[in-house]
Amino acid sequence: MPAVVLVGAQWGDEGKGKATDLLGGDVDYVVRYQGGNNAGHTVVIGDQKYALHLLPTGVLSPDVVPVIGNGVVIDPGVLLSEIDGLAARGIDCGRLLISANAHLIMPHHKAIDKVSERFLGKAKIGTTGRGIGPAYGDKIYRVGVRVQDLLDPGILSQKIEAALTEKNQILTKIYNRRGLEATKVLDEYLGYAERLRPHIADTSLILSRALDEDKVVLLEGGQGTLLDIDHGTYPFVTSSSPTSGGACAGSGIPPNRLTRVIGILKAYTTRVGSGPFPTELLDEQGEWLRQTGGEYGVTTGRNRRCGWFDAVIARYATRINGVTDFFLTKLDVLSGLERIPVCVAYDVDGVRHDEIPMTQTEFHHATPIYEELPGWQEDITSAKTFDDLPPNAQAYVRALEEMSGAPISAIGVGPGRTQTLQIRSLI
Ligand code: IMP
Repeated sequence: MPAVVLVGAQWGDEGKGKATDLLGGDVDYVVRYQGGNNAGHTVVIGDQKYALHLLPTGVLSPDVVPVIGNGVVIDPGVLLSEIDGLAARGIDCGRLLISANAHLIMPHHKAIDKVSERFLGKAKIGTTGRGIGPAYGDKIYRVGVRVQDLLDPGILSQKIEAALTEKNQILTKIYNRRGLEATKVLDEYLGYAERLRPHIADTSLILSRALDEDKVVLLEGGQGTLLDIDHGTYPFVTSSSPTSGGACAGSGIPPNRLTRVIGILKAYTTRVGSGPFPTELLDEQGEWLRQTGGEYGVTTGRNRRCGWFDAVIARYATRINGVTDFFLTKLDVLSGLERIPVCVAYDVDGVRHDEIPMTQTEFHHATPIYEELPGWQEDITSAKTFDDLPPNAQAYVRALEEMSGAPISAIGVGPGRTQTLQIRSLI
């Protein structure tokens, strides 16, 4: 009954799509357990590049059942256009299962996400503007609209009416925007209901039975550990729990059925949106990492902020998620450097911190304490095994492993499906 969690170990965009895809052949179910279309996975198969936002990566493997778990917030229009986009490229999403308990992103969530960010001005979170925070807000406030409501037009109508009675006041009176018409929203969502109906299921029951039958379930987190609503750099976080605990809550699979937790770790660090980032490089080295690593957002196209590897964060991710293995991605991006700085601890107002400081204020004051590791000049993109890597690249991997506190079991050396060095099995 292997249930394997894949979790971003930094601020998201670590290359999770590649890891999920690598495991694809051995997996029966791939489950998204949180987030929504704020996420973006890029998977390269042959000369085809797929950018997925809401659909689990498993959708690209014909033998895998992709599942959108109860912890996800779904923008149905986006989901359907993603399904249609794949269909146009010959990929069938007929197997997709959607939890009846997942929440829906409504038009007012998107409207409020955008205007409230503008309202915050310089204090903005830098959200993706997809309505994620407001949809989760309503879920927690117990006024959300769920996927199962699409199956009951009477309930759907009542919920939309009730939501807009309040949200239209907020949009018009606080933000000076136009309100939304309930009948229009209802018609739009009833249209989605027709198409989504065959996919709606009791996914936690299906997954539980699958595990009983020894099927392999992969739980795919969006974003990353430091964007977790509880364990991330609050308030500069997303509104859900990408960490491994969230995998249970967001799928209905209990903790004692999880067998592996794989942390996806980029060989350097990136972040999108606002918030503290101790190793950020604001100079030409940061620009070099951005260009060499192609660090532009899949979802919003925004430039990613770039910096050196931060071992404090990696250790934190190991602890919070119970990481059993790391998948190190984008090692090839670092080829050609003389020396590679790695942050081993922080200096916070003159005091050394080996762990993430307790308060947000301290974290904002953290400056990196670097150790420099020797670089390598060779192109490593065609390496097939760990032993093919130049000695300094091997030493870099071993050092990261030592500092991060969990074994590195796979290494990405390029974007292609075959450019992965597998050191040990991940299932
Ligand atoms: P939201 O998830 O759209 O509410 O955005 C909240 C924060 O999470 C912002 O800093 C976003 O840039 C960040 N964020 C959300 N999704 C991703 C992702 O998939 N990768 C990286 N950052 C993300």
